[in-house]
Amino acid sequence: MPRLSQWFIRAAFIYLLSGFTVGALLLAHKGLPLHPALWSWLPAHIEFLLFGWVVQVTMGMAFWILPRYWQQPRRPNPGYATIAFVLLNLGIWLVVAGTTFRAGPWFLPAGRAAEGAAVAFFALHAWRRIVSREGT
Ligand code: HEM
Repeated sequence: MPRLSQWFIRAAFIYLLSGFTVGALLLAHKGLPLHPALWSWLPAHIEFLLFGWVVQVTMGMAFWILPRYWQQPRRPNPGYATIAFVLLNLGIWLVVAGTTFRAGPWFLPAGRAAEGAAVAFFALHAWRRIVSREGT
């Protein structure tokens, strides 16, 4: 497995664990109130599990298994996928800062923009691996 996929998948598992932990606390809090501030962690629960886990594990697996070239570099444009990794994780924390920690009104849109850019950079990396060059 390429090094970048290892990073994506390691990070994804950390988010899965964190997201499930927050989810379990929220669930327990419904039956046995634990702390009044706990509900402010719902956006972090959603962010960790949807972007931190689902999107991140998908990108990590896709970087590994999408079609490769016979010649070097076997996975072209790895830099774009690395940028996607950085932007995705930056975006997750900007969104959590803007929602759970109420750091300011720009954090949420900035985080969503970073996440959107991460998806765009990943698609840019994947393009040459999924579009046939036959006949060109
Ligand atoms: C990949 C797995 C998961 C995803 C994508 C996910 C996603 C979500 C989303 C989107 C919401 C908001 C729902 C809404 O506002 O209507 C939510 C709420 C919640 N989740 Fe999860 N979740 C996951 C796993 C879990 C697990 C494992 C637990 C508990 C151990 C959990 C506990 C909760 C609780 C307690 C709420 C609040 C429900 C309420 O509004 O009353 N989640 N989750």
